[in-house]
Amino acid sequence: MIRCVSCGKEYSNDEIIYTCTDCGAILEVICQPDVSKEIFSCRKQTMWKYKEFMPVDETKIVSLDEGGTPFIKCNKLGKELGIDLYVKVEGSNPTGSFKDRGMSVGITKSMELGVSTVGCASTGNTSASLAAYAARAGKRCVVLLPAGKVALGKLAQAMFHGAEVLSIQGNFDEALEAVTALAMKGQLYLLNSVNPYRLEGQKSIGFEIVDDLGWQSPDRIILPVGNAGNISAIWKGISEFHDAGFIEDKPMMTGIQAEGACPIVNAVQKGKSEIEAIKNPETVATAIRIGAPVSATKALRAIYDSDGYAETVTDDEILSAQKMLARKEGIGVEPASAASIAGLQKLVDQGVVDKGEQVVCIVTGHLLKDPNTAINACVEPLEVEADINKLAEIINK
Ligand SMILES: Cc1ncc(COP(=O)(O)O)c(C=O)c1O
Ligand SMILES: [Zn+2]
Repeated sequence: MIRCVSCGKEYSNDEIIYTCTDCGAILEVICQPDVSKEIFSCRKQTMWKYKEFMPVDETKIVSLDEGGTPFIKCNKLGKELGIDLYVKVEGSNPTGSFKDRGMSVGITKSMELGVSTVGCASTGNTSASLAAYAARAGKRCVVLLPAGKVALGKLAQAMFHGAEVLSIQGNFDEALEAVTALAMKGQLYLLNSVNPYRLEGQKSIGFEIVDDLGWQSPDRIILPVGNAGNISAIWKGISEFHDAGFIEDKPMMTGIQAEGACPIVNAVQKGKSEIEAIKNPETVATAIRIGAPVSATKALRAIYDSDGYAETVTDDEILSAQKMLARKEGIGVEPASAASIAGLQKLVDQGVVDKGEQVVCIVTGHLLKDPNTAINACVEPLEVEADINKLAEIINK
């Protein structure tokens, strides 16, 4: 069953529907399997390990073995900050971001529905992921991207996997509005996170964190927030495992946004349950350059219900956290992902994160998604003759 998050109106799983026909609010899929957690043991480490919690036809699954991503204990950084820190590395998914989890379920749903064309608007990663999964499923794929604002690696992926790429003169919010209008006219099946099946896949990040911790909840989960689907999805996953009796506690959901694109933070800091859209969002972290997050209602509920928090970080804080994580812990992430680490540092300084807390930071996309930003942060390599004496001289300097 699909249900409106605002008025509670129910819809059948066979309907192609994105928002409530009565009140216009977003929808969620209701999923309450009656299983014990013992069934998960000995299964392959992908998100389909938890297939009973994925509301799609098991015989139609389209997968690239997404999920089962590294869960890295970061002792050096954790010690410096006085916390117990883990980093969930979503850049290790097949196309290099967490979007693959949602896309596997979303494309599987498109197989069930028998649609021929799928589409999305994207800041980059959604289009890269959709293009790959659509290729695997044999579906036509149309993606709308904000012109000039998509990192090179993501654009290359979308084009190389065969998507029809349309560069929109406008920002992500405008591209999403346009593709939603196309979907409403029946031109394509929309696979942005307003489609509630996307979040069903992404909730598996929450499943894996508590499984990795030995069926315990961490004290806090920190992640970057753009369109606000992921924070909503992870909270849904955690809540489903809690309701199933697999874990006793739940984490404080903590969302980090860039200073120039922070409607969720503004709402949380004013205690509001609705956002005010930001007209011209701007940040170096193009993945979260979003002013009107579609899943704001769900995200704000996740933050309030979990006694969580939301905070902004500057572009400089993002870029220095990105470099620090790469050099101190060996984890290479794209700028948006580093917002979670920059946010953690700020919240420790502010005393919002307590000493000794167990914190999981989600890093959402791979370093190579945005090679230009990475190269710009480094000095050019020195060109040297292949002469052993000269090389030794330089190395011993
Ligand atoms: C790397 C990365 N991090 C974070 C986000 C934000 O996720 P959400 O839009 O679900 O809040 C995105 C979204 O595109 C992303 O690509
Ligand atoms: Zn409704």
